[in-house]
Amino acid sequence: MKDSLGGVQTVLVLGGGSEIGLATARRLVADRTRTVILAGRDTEALRSGADELRRLGATRVEVMQFDALNRDSHQSFIDECWSTVGDIDLVLFAFGVLGDQDVAEHDSKEALRIIDSNFTGAVSLLIGSAERLKAQGHGSIVVLSSVAGERSRRSNFVYGASKAGLDAFSQGLGDSLIGTGVHVLIVRPGFVHTKMTEGLDAAPLSTTPEAVAEAIFDGIAKGREIVWVPAALRGVMSGLRHVPRPLFRRLPI
Ligand SMILES: NC(=O)c1ccc[n+]([C@@H]2O[C@H](COP(=O)([O-])OP(=O)(O)OC[C@H]3O[C@@H](n4cnc5c(N)ncnc54)[C@H](OP(=O)(O)O)[C@@H]3O)[C@@H](O)[C@H]2O)c1
Repeated sequence: MKDSLGGVQTVLVLGGGSEIGLATARRLVADRTRTVILAGRDTEALRSGADELRRLGATRVEVMQFDALNRDSHQSFIDECWSTVGDIDLVLFAFGVLGDQDVAEHDSKEALRIIDSNFTGAVSLLIGSAERLKAQGHGSIVVLSSVAGERSRRSNFVYGASKAGLDAFSQGLGDSLIGTGVHVLIVRPGFVHTKMTEGLDAAPLSTTPEAVAEAIFDGIAKGREIVWVPAALRGVMSGLRHVPRPLFRRLPI
């Protein structure tokens, strides 16, 4: 249950090894969050992040295993999260893969790995989480979407398509949850310096995991439904959305 000032007390981070996910967990713990579940594919790899959160003041940090691609396991995983810590105030969807666009264009296995990790796997976990949050009557879901989903680009349209699907689903889910006490925040970062983008040329208006974490923290506190990081991307993308396709596909983006 959020505390009397509306602060998040318990968070479940799906993608507990994500740099954005961990930065957000640190930001929440620096406020009033005391219980954290870090969930990811490799629980051993989550232990250093868990130790850091304890050092920062979290009183209970659990590490749990899940795989977005293993949809059959999602319901029991969600059930286990709730039975381990009780009510959860915030579920943060921070997992995802960029994938290999060059391979995915020719190999449906790679394309479907990207779509199933970022979209269909997330949908499965979104529905499971939303049902639990609705039953407890309160809570927030934060979904890491991307500017890449706003308009698909030649250079990464498979990832872009996965995020467009995730973003559209999350908008509809948020609308469907009005009046239930459950709130959905969609986060649309541009280029963030994390291991996902390591070795890539930084795009204009590139940002950091900490800046995304701050935007998430602020967005939850203010009950926002969509935030762009940095905020200037909202105007940039609303312009780019209307550029005619013959011109858009020639832009160096
Ligand atoms: N970095 C950017 O520029 C950027 C921009 C916009 C949006 N985003 C989105 O923000 C989110 C976090 O990204 P990040 O930059 O923090 O990336 P990151 O540090 O690479 O973290 C991605 C996380 O996703 C996990 N993951 C991948 N496939 C999974 C699966 N099948 N099941 C469970 N976990 C899985 C990875 O786990 P392992 O550790 O096991 O690999 C990793 O912990 C992602 O959804 C990403 O698409 C990122």
